Amino acid sequence: MKTLLVTGGAGFIGANFVRYWLERYPGDRVINLDALTYAGNLENLKGVEANDNYRFVRGDICDASLLRTLFDEEVVDTVVNFAAESHVDRSITDPGAFVRTNIEGTFTLLEAAANAWRGDAPDCRFLHVSTDEVYGSLGPDDPPFTERTPYAPNSPYSASKAASDHLVRAWFHTYGLPVLTTNCSNNYGPYQFPEKLIPLVIMNALEDRPLPIYGDGKNVRDWLYVEDHCRGIDAVLAGGRAGETYNIGGCNEWTNIDIVARICRTLDELRPGGGPKEDLITYIKDRPGHDRRYAIDAGKLMRELDWAPLYQFEQGIVKTVQWYLEHPAWVEHARSGDYRNYYRQQYGHN
Ligand code: NAD
Ligand code: DAU
Repeated sequence: MKTLLVTGGAGFIGANFVRYWLERYPGDRVINLDALTYAGNLENLKGVEANDNYRFVRGDICDASLLRTLFDEEVVDTVVNFAAESHVDRSITDPGAFVRTNIEGTFTLLEAAANAWRGDAPDCRFLHVSTDEVYGSLGPDDPPFTERTPYAPNSPYSASKAASDHLVRAWFHTYGLPVLTTNCSNNYGPYQFPEKLIPLVIMNALEDRPLPIYGDGKNVRDWLYVEDHCRGIDAVLAGGRAGETYNIGGCNEWTNIDIVARICRTLDELRPGGGPKEDLITYIKDRPGHDRRYAIDAGKLMRELDWAPLYQFEQGIVKTVQWYLEHPAWVEHARSGDYRNYYRQQYGHN
């Protein structure tokens, strides 16, 4: 039986991971430490709270004294660090929050985990969840990012994630803490906060509101269904070598405009009525420093740990659209409060 400390488990990927883990390994204990920022939502964990093997702690990964108490109370053998500020657009307007949580928070968590590992928790391992954005931007004919691609982050978000990856690496080389790092491509699926492209487009389209496309819409992202990301992390925890990094990605490159058109057609089929949703597409001012293309080579994870995505994109996107259609209360709550202010500031209208 394992005891996992999952940070950021009330966010999009973290909540999917907590659900995945408790279902797959019902005997394991999962402690979810989350500060409940605007992106943290306990509704993402509805049904999980009743599980005796689950504990929620509201708290900040920058809080060293809280972490000390937590590591004293629980013998943690696995830390999975999802907690982060995760939205590129917000990192452009408020970079300080990204430096704090992503860099200082990862440092504080590493220190706490290393202390526990030197003391009562000698089996403690630290898996750091990172992103493909640390590798920078690809040209149209460049090969996908491998684990050997040099880091070249371009946004405050990716720079702060790159810094955190370097700290994790240093805690392995200098102190010997058994660490693992995963660098994943764009995720999609249930419980994603509607500031991100896919849920934003689904929700706006349902209300016949403009679908904002930055620049020429030809930027490329490599999309992975969130459950396949969770399975990738599971594979790395099961068989990954300490100190190694593993890329996780879908081999599934799409331009933004194609993905938005695809979502529109899916909605036209699932919710017929009114005009074609594609008529709502609106090109707007580009994101500053907008990376042109990301693509992941996940060959190392596939070869060494026998991982492969289970979901075809065509299947995953329909499942995702259906999930948002079937959860109107979740959608309503996610879009209330702070989100409306953010949306007005970012897009200049309600
Ligand atoms: P998210 O923004 O949906 O969730 C982040 C969670 O972290 C929230 O629950 C928030 O409350 C919590 N949090 C923020 N600051 C905290 C702090 N100081 N202390 C404790 N908790 C805090 O993010 P996500 O999309 O689920 O991403 C999770 C992780 O995966 C991030 O580290 C991100 O960099 C990485 N990642 C995301 C993607 C993607 O496509 N979304 C892809 C690759 C990697
Ligand atoms: O690549 C992994 C990363 O993917 C993660 O590390 C980040 O946490 C996650 O937010 C995501 O970053 P992106 O910037 O790629 O995701 P986002 O959904 O914000 O945007 C996807 C693409 O769509 C990007 O090229 C910008 C564009 N876009 C986005 C929004 C919100 C638009 O054209 N219009 C929009 O309104």
